[in-house]
Amino acid sequence: MSHPRTLGIETSCDETSVAILDGEGRVEVNLLSSQVAAHAPWGGVVPELASREHLKALPLLAARALELAPGPPELVAVTAGPGLVGALLVGVRFAAAWAWGRGLPLVAVDHLEGHLASPFLSLEGAPAAGPEGPVLALVASGGHSAWYLVRPGAAPERLGRTRDDAAGETFDKVAQVLGLPYPGGPEVDRLARKGSPTAWRLPRPRLEDAPLDFSFSGLKSATIRLVRSEGLTGVGPSGAGQAVYDLLASFEAAVVDQLLGPLPELVRHHRPVVVTASGGVAANTLLRRELERRGGALGVEVVLPPVALTTDNAAMIARAGQLAFARGERHDPRRLDARPSEKWQPPGMRKVR
Ligand code: KG4
Ligand code: ZN
Repeated sequence: MSHPRTLGIETSCDETSVAILDGEGRVEVNLLSSQVAAHAPWGGVVPELASREHLKALPLLAARALELAPGPPELVAVTAGPGLVGALLVGVRFAAAWAWGRGLPLVAVDHLEGHLASPFLSLEGAPAAGPEGPVLALVASGGHSAWYLVRPGAAPERLGRTRDDAAGETFDKVAQVLGLPYPGGPEVDRLARKGSPTAWRLPRPRLEDAPLDFSFSGLKSATIRLVRSEGLTGVGPSGAGQAVYDLLASFEAAVVDQLLGPLPELVRHHRPVVVTASGGVAANTLLRRELERRGGALGVEVVLPPVALTTDNAAMIARAGQLAFARGERHDPRRLDARPSEKWQPPGMRKVR
């Protein structure tokens, strides 16, 4: 199916990104300006700083993207939420003004729907793929960790989720305690490759009343306790030692087991044609390997996004915007507002951070 050439804009957290996709969902341009350096001294994202950095970067990235694209966009897609309200507003108002000024249609995209679309994008010039049936999808990032069922043409349904911290947040926290640079996920991934995942037996709690949900707080505390009791540090003249590698490998294995624990039950119950993972934690070497292995053993195809599209990017927002536009979604550029909280809240559940 052919879609309009689409301009995508993403500013929900600490990455400013602008992308242009052609009518088949080929990524023509995907530009990104990371704010990691601006937030690093604070050990996490500072909301006010994020908004200001988006304000600086977005007009420059958009101008450059339009120069690079082979033709003008015919649709504008922007992340409207969830995320930091000030950061979202920068993207939303920019996109709305841009669409309004050119008389183009505007679609507001849910950031999580963007992540869910990312496994089907290519950075090698291929059109976007479209699965022919239900997809079982893990989104694991700095702010979210949940499994969804995505049926073609329907809103995603959340099946299980974290009861406390997100997986990425857990990686970042353990890294911070070891004195490793922010964000911690990529560092932990790198150092864990040198360690033994069976060196320490860390907790992998499952909730009896909600077997599809997971929890990271016990695992995080146990790991931090070991860092302190063993006197470990990730920095120093000789760098991290074997004890740090072993602890990080054991910790990473426990996070992956937590995330993939519900997989057999979910596959049995929902019979998906494809299993995917997306979000920053889907860049993790062990998670990718284990999902391929466990999915294969369950007889289901595993589709992973290119590593560069696991973290926040506008290509996935443009793609989710194309799919939403095809379903008939449109938003009034004069009225569109940021929507900081999560959209698919099952009734009676408390808010997921
Ligand atoms: O999707 P994302 O860019 O932002 C959110 O929407 O939250 O995800 C960022 C998160 C950070 O917590 C980061 O540490 C984690 O993804 N991350 C990783 C890896 N790369 C990024 N975690 C584990 N292993 C990685 N290789
Ligand atoms: Zn994200």
